Amino acid sequence: MRSYTLSFLFSLFTCLSFAQVKVDVDANRLLVPIQPTMYGIFFEDINFAADGGLYAELVKNRSFEFEYPWMGWKHVPEAETRYNTRNELTIFSNAKANPTNPKVVRVEKRDGSQVIGFQNEGFDGMGFKQGAAYDFSAKVRLNKGNIGLRVQLLDAQGAVLQAQDIQPNGTSTWTSVETTLISPKTVEKGKLQVLFLGEGQLDIDVVSLFPQDTWKGRKKGLRKDLVQMLADLKPGFIRFPGGCVVEGRTLAERYQWKKTLGVVENREILFNRWNKEFSHRPAPDYFQSFGIGFFEYFQLCSDIGAKPVPILSCGLACQFNSSEMQPLEDMEPFIQDALDLIEFANGSVDSPWGAIRASMGHPEPFGLEMIGVGNEQWGEEYFERYDLIAQAIQAKYPAIQIISGTGPFAEGELFDLAEKELTKRKPALVDEHYYKPPQWFLDNASRYDIYDRNRYKIFAGEYAAHPKGTERPESRNNWEAALSEAAFMTGLERNADVVYMTSYAPLLAHVNKWQWNPDLIWFDNLQAIATPSYYVQQLYANNAGTHTLPITADGNLMVGQKGLYGTAAWDAKTKEIILKLVNTGTAPATLNLQMKGISKNSIAQITILQADQLEQFNSLEKPNEVKPSASTWEVKRGTLTLGPRSFQVIRIKK
Ligand code: AHR
Repeated sequence: MRSYTLSFLFSLFTCLSFAQVKVDVDANRLLVPIQPTMYGIFFEDINFAADGGLYAELVKNRSFEFEYPWMGWKHVPEAETRYNTRNELTIFSNAKANPTNPKVVRVEKRDGSQVIGFQNEGFDGMGFKQGAAYDFSAKVRLNKGNIGLRVQLLDAQGAVLQAQDIQPNGTSTWTSVETTLISPKTVEKGKLQVLFLGEGQLDIDVVSLFPQDTWKGRKKGLRKDLVQMLADLKPGFIRFPGGCVVEGRTLAERYQWKKTLGVVENREILFNRWNKEFSHRPAPDYFQSFGIGFFEYFQLCSDIGAKPVPILSCGLACQFNSSEMQPLEDMEPFIQDALDLIEFANGSVDSPWGAIRASMGHPEPFGLEMIGVGNEQWGEEYFERYDLIAQAIQAKYPAIQIISGTGPFAEGELFDLAEKELTKRKPALVDEHYYKPPQWFLDNASRYDIYDRNRYKIFAGEYAAHPKGTERPESRNNWEAALSEAAFMTGLERNADVVYMTSYAPLLAHVNKWQWNPDLIWFDNLQAIATPSYYVQQLYANNAGTHTLPITADGNLMVGQKGLYGTAAWDAKTKEIILKLVNTGTAPATLNLQMKGISKNSIAQITILQADQLEQFNSLEKPNEVKPSASTWEVKRGTLTLGPRSFQVIRIKK
């Protein structure tokens, strides 16, 4: 009797607390196409995403060109620095011979019995993997004597892991020296040490160490695990190189794509604007080596099948910083940069810039279709400059789609002004940014349901939910953030006739060297982890579909009633219906799914992303706290239960 009562009470409780909803999907009625570019990625060199991250170079300040040339380097022995009377390491400038990489280290050894050298600390250490090979290289010039190099991999305590000797020949001309070292064990914070043996005088520059195992095995290439994670997102596009690095704090510090081409070691380094941006996360050792320059960005796009979306400076330095403006009458270099970039990407090998692309190893065009003019700009000063560049592009390359932007604000006076100005101009796409609390994402899942269909198409180019976190940097990428993004994204997809492109931002962050969080992927020197937000992006991008389908909950759009959000798509390639359903409620939700155009005998494949606590996050130590799991569902059952605070992607063969 007692158990009877309990089970009755339980059923009553269940009925009352479970959301019960009738969901209708019509698989016979395609609504609008979903663009192949719908889900892409945003890459910026912030949080040591390029140098110290995607670019696999392990040596920091390899060419001694930082503001303080010895930054990242330590002399060996420590006390005997450049002022030793018999032996010394000094830096001199060779600007005439090499204007973009002028500084050189001179090793002067009059006492051959003493060993001197230097150590590089890497980017918070260097990650070495057991059994992996590391390619050391440097440019040297032996002016006199017999100085030899002893190259060593060290562990964090300074113990030698492996060593190789190199004897340069004494021709007094610059030559490249190379050797390969195998690490006998895995260390997260290793170092590179170069000792100078013998006597004489030797100049050395571009001291470099790369893992051999890079993305596609390219020598001196990209970090394989990180690129693989990007490829696994199957992004429709890559937006690069930012972000605020496009603008610079001053115009002189803006990103200039032409300076990022050609021989890597001759690319002039540039102060990274995230270097001093946040006083709570200073990064005085943050510079851009441009080891990943525009050629490498385009190559990455073509490697992973993503459309390139370069963003160029519009002649305005960051308006949060100096707001420096290029005078309107002197905009010519900025206009020319945009035109030349199109030729670099698409021009024939006989054109001046197409020839440069070909000389770098890519005679085929890169297929550039879109170009962004300005990043987060606002006010009249933006539109005046935008017009000059956009008109020149349109005149010469009418097929190129131009992306403009509404600036850093998702609403308010400056946003309204931008909307008004851009409505007049009608660029192909307008970039909107929103870094907001999770609740904003839930409240704004309908943002594009009410957008004017005749205005312009939207590129949600930077967004991320910003919840509270703990002192751990990865903790802001918690389940609360990801769940709210999943809910919001139902609205992006439902409005695929207006929203053509979207990308989470920022993409990558080094756990010990970040400036901005949350971020999509966290990494250290050895490993990388997917955040819950990464899985949300991946589930959307890998299950995008080609057309939207009608879906309603109790006869209305699924935008938050009873905590439920949903979108439905048709995939013409696989002939599947794809449902993306989000339950933000604390109780399970039972959906009575009525699906027109789907056989009752179908078995649906379900991927579920769920966590018990909103605060749960993935960390380098616990990378699997929140991760997708698989399940199936028989369509004939009619009802489908969505777990509390869950995101489900359901694929059903038609
Ligand atoms: O994604 C980080 C920064 O946020 C970008 O550089 C900028 O565009 C925005 O303010």
